[in-house]
Amino acid sequence: LSTAEFDLSSIEEGATITVKWRGKPIFIKHRTDAEIEESNNTNLAELRHQETDAERVQDPKWLVILGICTHLGCVPASNAGEYGGWFCPCHGSHYDVSGRIRKGPAPLNMEIPPYKFVGPQRVLLG
Ligand code: FES
Repeated sequence: LSTAEFDLSSIEEGATITVKWRGKPIFIKHRTDAEIEESNNTNLAELRHQETDAERVQDPKWLVILGICTHLGCVPASNAGEYGGWFCPCHGSHYDVSGRIRKGPAPLNMEIPPYKFVGPQRVLLG
C-alpha cells in the first residue's frame, strides 16, 4: 500500500507515536503549546539546516516526520536529547521538537513525508 491513514485522536498532548509507512518509521508528535512556541521562537541563525517551523508543519499541533536520522539512517529515540525532540543513539545527534538537527553529526533535519489531513484528527500518509 502506498498510502496509509492514521487516527490521531488517542495521542495525548506531548506524546509521540511511531507508525510504519512504506516500511519506514514515521514519527507523529502531538505538540504542546510550549513546544510550538519554542519551535517558532528558534533563532534560525542557530540552525545547521535552516528551516522555520512553519515550513515543516501543516498544523502546528502535529509534527509528522520520517523517523530516520539523516546521518547514517538509525531510528532516533523520541522525547529525548538535549532539545527535547529526538536523540539518535548511534552517534549522538540531537533534534528539536520540530525534528531539526541541533547537535551531533547529522547534516539535515529529519525529512517530512508527503501527507495530508483528511479529518481534524486523521492523517493520510502518501
Ligand atoms: Fe544518527 Fe549517526 S545515524 S547520529
